[in-house]
Amino acid sequence: MPNIILLGPPGAGKGTQAKRLVDERGMVQLSTGDMLREAKTSGTEMGRRVADVMDKGHLVTDDIVIGLIEERLVNEHAAGGYIFDGFPRTLTQADALGELMARIGQPLDAVVEIKVDDEVLKDRIVGRYTCGTCGAVYHDTNRPTKVAGTCDACGGHDMKRRADDTEEALRTRMLAYYRDTSPLIGYYYAKHQLSSVDGLAEMDAVGAAISSVLDKA
Ligand code: AP5
Repeated sequence: MPNIILLGPPGAGKGTQAKRLVDERGMVQLSTGDMLREAKTSGTEMGRRVADVMDKGHLVTDDIVIGLIEERLVNEHAAGGYIFDGFPRTLTQADALGELMARIGQPLDAVVEIKVDDEVLKDRIVGRYTCGTCGAVYHDTNRPTKVAGTCDACGGHDMKRRADDTEEALRTRMLAYYRDTSPLIGYYYAKHQLSSVDGLAEMDAVGAAISSVLDKA
């Protein structure tokens, strides 16, 4: 089964589409953001070190995130394929992922850029909330829960908003995206691995476009 990277700025819809692929295709989502947030809340030494960096919207150091991904890739086998969500984010991380995949004998089948206009991102980010129990992603207006405060997917009531989902932190995150992550678009284009989908379309249409890329991979 294919292994893919979802690439795009904060709020592009990477997490939303990754969860859809997990549900529809049994793929395994590897989100470095989720792993780091888990480390933060579980109070590990690493979680304490990254908390302030993340909350302000800066990137965590390459060695930390590469270590997190390496641990998962080496210790688990994803029969349905991996979805890399929010990783890699720098050229150093991209090179490291290439080496890791070669080491475990797995191909990287596609890199999907979710293209969006910056204007929609502030609204998507400040309106986002997630279920603290199962991680389902919602939005105040674009995708509210059917019953206010209750997760459609698991029935949980623990809705959360992220500490970095503020206008100020978003400015820093966007700068990090354009400075450090957007060069990956050219990097994977040159490797003939890049496909782009319209992230401004309805969520279902974005999902269908990603599925079509996967089916050809
Ligand atoms: P991370 O958790 O990876 O955040 P991000 O990349 O900023 O992306 P987001 O999760 O904000 O957005 P998304 O694209 O997943 O959008 P979503 O689907 O939720 O990283 C957080 C932090 O961790 C980083 O800033 C950094 O500090 C650190 N970090 C993580 N990985 C790192 C790495 N590799 N290296 C270094 N540091 C790292 O959608 C957003 C909202 O829009 C939702 O409410 C959703 O319902 C709505 N929406 C989605 N799609 C649509 C659509 N088509 N139409 C309308 N609304 C939509």
